[in-house]
Amino acid sequence: MCGIVGYIGKQKALPVLIDGIKSLEYRGYDSAGFAVSTAGGVVKSKKAVGRVSNLELKIEEKDIRHGNAGICHTRWATHGGVTEENAHPHSDCKGELWLCHNGIIENYKDFKSDLARRGHTFKSETDSEVLAHLIEEFKTQDPALATEEAVRLALLSVRGTYGLALLDSKNPGTLIAARNFSPLLIGVGDGEYIIASDASAVLKHTKNVVYLDDGEMAVLTPKSHKIFDLKRNTINRKSEELTWDIEEAQKGGNPHFMLKEILEEPEAIENSIRGRIVAKEGLIKLGGILAVEEKLRNAKRILIAGCGTAYLAGKVGEYMLEEYGGIPVKIELASEFRYRKPIFREGDVMLVVSQSGETADTLAALAEAKQKGVLSLGIVNVVGSTIARQTDAGVYQHVGPEIGVASTKAFTSQVAILALLSVMLGRQRDMSVVMARRITEELSRIPELMKKIIKQSEAIKKLAKKYQPYRDFLFLGRKYNYPVALEGALKLKEISYVHAEGFSAGEMKHGPIAMIDKSFPSICIAPSDSVYEKMVSNMEEIKARSGPIIVIATEGNKKIEEITKDVIYIPKTLEMLTPLLAVVPLQLFAYHFGVLRGLDVDKPRNLAKSVTVE
Ligand code: G6P
Repeated sequence: MCGIVGYIGKQKALPVLIDGIKSLEYRGYDSAGFAVSTAGGVVKSKKAVGRVSNLELKIEEKDIRHGNAGICHTRWATHGGVTEENAHPHSDCKGELWLCHNGIIENYKDFKSDLARRGHTFKSETDSEVLAHLIEEFKTQDPALATEEAVRLALLSVRGTYGLALLDSKNPGTLIAARNFSPLLIGVGDGEYIIASDASAVLKHTKNVVYLDDGEMAVLTPKSHKIFDLKRNTINRKSEELTWDIEEAQKGGNPHFMLKEILEEPEAIENSIRGRIVAKEGLIKLGGILAVEEKLRNAKRILIAGCGTAYLAGKVGEYMLEEYGGIPVKIELASEFRYRKPIFREGDVMLVVSQSGETADTLAALAEAKQKGVLSLGIVNVVGSTIARQTDAGVYQHVGPEIGVASTKAFTSQVAILALLSVMLGRQRDMSVVMARRITEELSRIPELMKKIIKQSEAIKKLAKKYQPYRDFLFLGRKYNYPVALEGALKLKEISYVHAEGFSAGEMKHGPIAMIDKSFPSICIAPSDSVYEKMVSNMEEIKARSGPIIVIATEGNKKIEEITKDVIYIPKTLEMLTPLLAVVPLQLFAYHFGVLRGLDVDKPRNLAKSVTVE
């Protein structure tokens, strides 16, 4: 996602900034920009759409000779398209205050209209620029106010998340930083400081870092730094020594991107649902599909298409949208849909699900629907991707780049958004406020519940170790957890290269049961839900044939241990939301299983992250 680098010290700022921002390229981004101080007390800024190399093409010899303080940013679009105007840094009206911002200012619209009335002019569509003008406004109202104080007051006024670096042309000997639920650290060098959203940008210069905590600010000069909270309490924090190399730093200290992305799932869900639930009225506000809300009210059927893990997220959506959205749904593998001569009817809506937004088969399915004049929607992670651009409307996932080839955080985010969509459609039809509130409240708790599962990673690793000798696995689930069984099997085969099959547990008697013996373990997803008893019967059948069983069960269900001792407990939640929890242990199981086999789980053989060919 977005990356920030800031520098103040004895060196010329620009080369350090560009070098630093390049080490954040792995995070994915769509545009870049910098602002540096100059000897004349003016800040110079340049921006470019696309790669950092495009920005470098714009750098002239004289830019490199500019001052010793500056900020630099790579943007992953959230509010506003991928344009130079929307790229950071953003400035106030006078071009004195320049800032780079990661995160989302949720109530920026309230401020934007008020600031516009007061004469501020905006050059971009971003929430971040509003912050620059808000700081300017505090300074205008009280010209004696120090910039750091204006920043503090502005941050106290807004609601949202931020990692922030600010440069003031009137005070180029100082750099200001702030953090709230968006990472930011300060690299402490010899007569220099480097602010960064990610340790990889700092490591080349220093291994000494000070981490900012949420709700904290820092003011840096080349020789000193002070940290304080938004109530102005001073914070004395010692620097820590990083023991990582650059590659490890990019993985946030985790051995693999896949693990990092599984650990990020609670945050990813928060980012996907943030600002989209109007709790009191039990309503869902999805900005990207506001314009087609009326068409959705009259929709008669939803067709969902996707590939791989995205298809399986869509399959969970099929159950949710029918049960709670009150609308018939058909889920299709995009690669089949494109050749099937599908029959569309009046009132059909095509929904494509894709992390990358570039999958060739999904694009072809979308094209088929568009050609027939069907309203098309997308659930997409990569902002500005082809699917995002070609659908009539859509919902962005906001989970940041997913680098591990096997999709993890994108899956749970897609399921969470499908839950939001189900409530939205349900409310347009006959869902009560009470039911909508129940679902949205429970959805908001999912990140906390996920954290409890993630804590069991070591226990899951032990199970993965115990089951290492096996080369065949059956994954079984019913109803909402049937797609989860398919996803569990897909994850295991993708990264471990062992044979794994997912089945609806009800289908077991029609074939898979023939394979069961002591060398063929089953992983059963059996939370305490409406089909629990049926799952128990299936497990008894497996046990009767000496098949080893791992079960995913609901916390408190001790009785299940009479069937097998290999139990992974997940917290209780609404049945429709259990896939969000049940899939996490399966992702962790596949991850540990692959690592224990000594495989490169981030780049499994023969697979690609984004399949842009048929
Ligand atoms: C590839 C990836 C999968 C992913 C699928 C669909 O096969 O390895 O992890 O689920 O493509 O990708 P999309 O970007 O459309 O979600």
